[in-house]
Amino acid sequence: MGRLRGKSAIITGAASGMGAEEARVFAAEGARVTIADVDDGAGERLAKEIGARFHHLDVTDAAGWEALVTSAENAYGTVDVLVNNAGIVVWGGVTDLTEVDLRRVLDVNTIGVFLGMRAVAPAMERAGGGSIINIGSTSGLVGGPKALGYSASKWAVRGMTKAAALDLAPKNIRVNAVHPGLIRTPMSGAAADRTSGTPPLGRIGTPAEVAAVVVHLASDDSGYTTGADHVVDGGRTAGWT
Ligand SMILES: NC(=O)c1ccc[n+]([C@@H]2O[C@H](COP(=O)([O-])OP(=O)(O)OC[C@H]3O[C@@H](n4cnc5c(N)ncnc54)[C@H](O)[C@@H]3O)[C@@H](O)[C@H]2O)c1
Repeated sequence: MGRLRGKSAIITGAASGMGAEEARVFAAEGARVTIADVDDGAGERLAKEIGARFHHLDVTDAAGWEALVTSAENAYGTVDVLVNNAGIVVWGGVTDLTEVDLRRVLDVNTIGVFLGMRAVAPAMERAGGGSIINIGSTSGLVGGPKALGYSASKWAVRGMTKAAALDLAPKNIRVNAVHPGLIRTPMSGAAADRTSGTPPLGRIGTPAEVAAVVVHLASDDSGYTTGADHVVDGGRTAGWT
């Protein structure tokens, strides 16, 4: 406990699923949390429950990001951690994914992550450094059937993480990616139906198991780690079984 004491952390998509679990664990570890989501009802309920702030944000809205960072700095003094967790899944393969759906999933999962990193970097520099954690997916390590747009969006998250880590290292801002496999959340209800086989560890993962890795990357325990991929998938992408 207390590994994030005094840190001001923004977590996007924290009204549900893994982001909500991360918000709970961050608060328990002493962080001052800003929950940023389009789902005002669930976001405000969780904020009240854990003593956090809720701020309405659509991650595709650049001006919204600027307002979020300003409000977090005004409330907590600094922005030390950003978890770019908000994401959507859109199913479709090379012949049946619509252009509209491809642009939408890239807008939320990829452009949203870029806008977030861009918005927090000056605030983190003012704070003397920071940690950005981008939530990718094992769909950013391998391909998936009928997941062309989702895969493209998550491979881009992985590439941007490494490029941004190089750009921001001189400012003492670390940037890492976390790639969950199949994790039990509202989103994965649909994914589970499309995924065949069982991971080597024999079960679907839990949000708490992803949150544990995210907390480590947010904390000073990971002070020499940047630009790295962290896979939390029960061994699914380790190789053939
Ligand atoms: N669940 C899985 O198995 C799995 C596996 C790998 C990666 N992921 C990734 O983990 C992240 C969280 O997934 P989850 O399963 O917890 O999903 P979820 O659907 O439970 O939660 C996603 C949250 O993001 C919010 N959101 C969606 N669009 C938004 C936008 N434009 N702006 C702000 N908020 C928005 C939603 O309101 C929701 O609260 C996503 O990036 C997802 O791609 C999930």
